[in-house]
This record gives sequence, structure tokens and C-alpha cells, in this order.
Amino acid sequence: MGIEPTSSAWEAEVLPLNYTRFGRRLAKIIIAAPEGANVARGNAQRAPNRPILEARNFLSLIASEMQAVDAVIRKRLHSEAPLVREIAEYIIASGGKRLRPALLLLAAGALGHRGHDCHELAAVVEFIHTATLLHDDVVDESTLRRGKETANAHFGNAASVLVGDFLYSRAFQMMVGVGRMRVMQVLADATNIIAEGEVLQLMNCHNADLSVEEYLRVVRYKTAKLFEASARLGAILGGAQSALEEGFAAYGMHLGTAFQIADDVLDYSGQEEELGKSLGDDLAEGKPTLPLIHVMQHGSPEQASLVRSALEQGGRDAFPQVIRAVKETGALDAALQTARDESARARDAIAALPDSQYREALLQLAAFAADRRY
Ligand code: IPE
Ligand code: IPE
Ligand code: MG
Ligand code: MG
Repeated sequence: MGIEPTSSAWEAEVLPLNYTRFGRRLAKIIIAAPEGANVARGNAQRAPNRPILEARNFLSLIASEMQAVDAVIRKRLHSEAPLVREIAEYIIASGGKRLRPALLLLAAGALGHRGHDCHELAAVVEFIHTATLLHDDVVDESTLRRGKETANAHFGNAASVLVGDFLYSRAFQMMVGVGRMRVMQVLADATNIIAEGEVLQLMNCHNADLSVEEYLRVVRYKTAKLFEASARLGAILGGAQSALEEGFAAYGMHLGTAFQIADDVLDYSGQEEELGKSLGDDLAEGKPTLPLIHVMQHGSPEQASLVRSALEQGGRDAFPQVIRAVKETGALDAALQTARDESARARDAIAALPDSQYREALLQLAAFAADRRY
């Protein structure tokens, strides 16, 4: 952190025009310098001067609070059913970036608030996230998560779905414990929208005619909504007035959108050992994500029809050819640029916050959402 970026060309690319008021000062803060070894391991598609962003840069500020959140998570995993404990422990102990709790703590911290309710609600959003992952891996038939076999691969689909339900309902017990109607309203709305997003996505599988707008709607629902709720809850706990709360909510929504678009790029270009997930899961499920939509809209007729039939069929047979098409058409870079634009919108949404370490960490978190490898 705090190391000068080596390329002003990259700065121009990553800091869009409407963001120039932060200029070089911010670039110095948010961008870690490229590390040759990491770049060499990274995606061949990426520019050699691509910066490497690390989650630890913004997590260090709240390290002790994150420990408190982990303690809440452990305490609240308790169940009479040993299998619940085993599976919940299996997925939670395997790590995860804990970005949603971090977002909540940083938003509250930026408003000078911390403490018990923050830790409880940070654990709540991580439980909701974990429940969605358990369900999502069943739906996507994924076999690798956080560098380990998925819970569905290890314990079976039925157990994964049921423990996902357990985590969801435990999260609701905990939020009721906080005792604030507004908090319950935000989380009830968010979980409902997430479920709707997953259903919309299911309906869109194998649909090669999906528009960018329809794709973005699914992204906002299934992923960005929980980031939005996390940031909004931090603002509510911090006593924000409604305009400020909306600013934090917009920040979370744009950040979450950037995060999912980046995830969809990494599904074609990441390194499995860094990502902890298998590449190609999206194509296998016939998901029309932004890189594929780009090829179908901007590629040659041959490239477009290759991707169209791979999507309609699903499976992994055409994965190498599809990777070639997304790379040759610049689809990964185009999608990444969309993620960076969303990240810039997120940063704009909190631009009015007074200078603080929390504000800087929130800006870093938004940058990481788009430019990450894991
Ligand atoms: C994975 O989220 C699901 C998506 C929204 C892409 P994360 O990448 O935050 O998952 P963990 O918690 O770090 O494993
Ligand atoms: C995110 O979509 C799903 C959720 C919001 C739960 P993905 O299906 O792309 O997430 P990963 O890649 O499995 O983590
Ligand atoms: Mg998935
Ligand atoms: Mg994915």
C-alpha cells in the first residue's frame, strides 16, 4: 500500500474522467505497485503493468473488529445437530474474504461507530452470504470453493441446502436480537431480492439473447444487493441521515456490481489456485455473462456463433475455444472496464465523506472489487 504506481497510462485507464478530482493523491493510496512475480502468474490477457490489489490493505484497519466478528460467527454456529456444526464449520473455517462484514464495519467506522451491534450484523451478512454460497454451489453444480471441495461435493446436495437454510434462519434470529425494525426491513428486502436474482439467473440460463441490461439486473439482485445492504446497515448503525445512508447504499450497490462483473471475468481468466474456485463453471451452466454477451454482440459471425452454441449447450467441451474467443475479441478487457466504471461510481458515491482512514479504506475496497485476482 502507498507505493507509487509505475504507469501513468494505467492511472488514466483506471481513474475515469469523473474521478479526476481525487487525482494522483488517491492513486498513490489505493494502488499497490505491480509485483513482477504475481503479474507473471496472472492472466496473460492483462497488461503487464496491471496493478495488484490486495484485500489486506483495507482489512488491516479493522483487524481487531474482524476478530470480534469471527468470535460472533463461531458462537452463533451452535446447533443441536452435529451435521449442521460440521458443515457450517467446514465452509466458514475455510476462509473467504469476509468483504461484506468488512464493508459494514468500515461504513459504520467512517461515521465513528463501532461495537456489539456492528459485530452482530457483520456476522449476519456473512451468514447470509454463506447460505447463498451453499445454495449457489448446489445450483451451479460447483465442486471447488475457497480452495476446497464444495460442501455439496463433500456432504451432498441435500445437506448443503438444509444447512444453507439453517444459516439463513440463524441470521434472522440474530437480526431480531438487534431489535431495530429498520435493520430487519433492510435485511428482509435484501434476502428476498437475492433469491429473486438467483431465480432470474436460472431462467436466463442458456439464453444467448440476454441483453446487457438484463444481465446487470441479475448482478444487482443476486450479488450487489447484499453489498448494498451491508453498507446501508453500517450507515444506519452510524446514525446517518437519509441522504448519507443513500450515498452508502449506492456505494455498496456499485461496488457489488463491479465485484460480480470481475467474478464473471475471472471465471474465464483467473488462476484456480488463487481464486479457490474452478474456472468454466459459468459456461458449464450456460450462464450468459458479460464476456460472452460481448463476443456475441461484437465478435465476428464465427466467434458469435461459437459462443452462442456453447451457451445453448452448456458443459465444458467448448471451454478452450470460448476462452480463445473472449480473449481475441477483447471481451475480458471490455467487461473489466465496465467493472472499473462501476467501481468509480461507488467511489463517487462516498466522495463527500470527510477524510479519514475509514474513507480511504472504503475507496480501496471499491478499487479491489474490480481489480482483484481472488
Ligand atoms: C463469491 O463471493 C460469490 C460472488 C458474489 C461472486 P466472494 O468472492 O466474496 O466469496 P468468499 O466469501 O470470499 O469466498
Ligand atoms: C454469485 O454468482 C452467486 C451468489 C450471489 C451467491 P456466481 O455463481 O458467479 O458465484 P461463484 O462464482 O459461484 O462464487
Ligand atoms: Mg456459482
Ligand atoms: Mg462466479
